[in-house]
Amino acid sequence: MTSHTSQMLLALAAVATLAIPGSALAAGDVEAGKATYMTNCQSCHGDTGKGDGPVGAVLQPSPRDFSKGDFKLDTDSDGKSGTDADLVNVIKKGGLAYGGSPLMAAWPALSDGDVDNLVAFIRSLKQ
Ligand code: HEC
Repeated sequence: MTSHTSQMLLALAAVATLAIPGSALAAGDVEAGKATYMTNCQSCHGDTGKGDGPVGAVLQPSPRDFSKGDFKLDTDSDGKSGTDADLVNVIKKGGLAYGGSPLMAAWPALSDGDVDNLVAFIRSLKQ
């Protein structure tokens, strides 16, 4: 093998190793998601996601009950609500952008990784 070829292979291997943690991240980290949730979402959605946090308890409509795993908004009009893409869109752009409640605010300050982790945590709350 020429040194040029082996350098190419090394470069390819580097790209492949970068790609793998990237796709693992897309699946989201439940524990990291929980930390972000407790800081930003718990006041409305509640400790266990039932929509019964101190603020959420008095809201109308109620925050979505994540323990049911039943979602309302179809943000990408693919005929299915509550796909990962829908949850990501609602978290990033807020409910109002998709005909839902403005009480579900947009969270533009959260990173893509934060949002993926939140989705993983929300999924884990389904009973
Ligand atoms: C001020 C209260 C409040 C806070 C804080 C809040 N939400 Fe919500 N959330 C709501 C309400 C109310 C709804 C229901 C919206 C509706 O029915 O149109 C909702 C709905 C949702 C939905 C369901 C969308 C659907 O299609 O059913 C998701 C997912 C969600 N919130 C995620 C989050 C995440 C993640 C956070 C924290 C980053 C958060 N929310 C913070 C009030 C809140």
